[in-house]
Amino acid sequence: MVNHYLIANWKMHKLSAEALQFIAGFSSTSLPDNTAVIIAPSFPLLPVMRTAIEGARLPVMLAAQNMFYEEHGAFTGEVSPQQIYDAGAKYVIIGHSERRTLMNEHYNMLSQKLKAALTAELTPIYCLGENLQEREAGHSKEVVSGQVQQLVKDFSSADIRKMIIAYEPIWAIGTGKSATPEEVEEIHALMATMLPPGMPMVYGGSVNAQNAQQFLQQPHISGLLVGSASLDIQEFQRILAIF
Ligand code: 13P
Repeated sequence: MVNHYLIANWKMHKLSAEALQFIAGFSSTSLPDNTAVIIAPSFPLLPVMRTAIEGARLPVMLAAQNMFYEEHGAFTGEVSPQQIYDAGAKYVIIGHSERRTLMNEHYNMLSQKLKAALTAELTPIYCLGENLQEREAGHSKEVVSGQVQQLVKDFSSADIRKMIIAYEPIWAIGTGKSATPEEVEEIHALMATMLPPGMPMVYGGSVNAQNAQQFLQQPHISGLLVGSASLDIQEFQRILAIF
């Protein structure tokens, strides 16, 4: 049974040749049965990567980094959950802090996206976490529990169970300053008291091959969401070997 997750968020990096090179260098020899490896490339790379992964028979799954909440229609520039599924992804990242801050995505929109993803049978990887100001004011727990409460209010336990929760404190993303394993464990343990039992909860924010193990040793951390360290195949394989 899969209960561990290694998720690579490539953000707006890599052209198709680079993505193919990554897949060609991927070795799944050390991959335990209980771990799902998921890569989230930009939209145009999804079909290219699906073909390469299937060709190499790799146990790697794909995620989109975002989606719109409508099935089809006059929404220029948007991508529907059904189109994502059709392109080969089974997962979708929703509510990443870069979208919340740069694209002004707020909870109302995110809850619609979560509903639409579930309807399309995509597994949402729902990101939440506090910003630097909130952390410095000592409000991390309050902020995160507020975000989890919104979810619990709007979604049934059965639907929440179909999601992966990603705790990504905004101040730790791309800064080289990860939260300590103890800090993350405390937040995850708090979320566990509010969410259905056994929910997968992953941590993201400046994870690399040096610090990955300390996070995975914590009882409430079931995986990692890795940004920049996932772009390099050697570094990614080093992280994978820790699972
Ligand atoms: P970094 O690992 O580059 O800090 O990015 C984390 C992240 O945003 C993953 O979604």
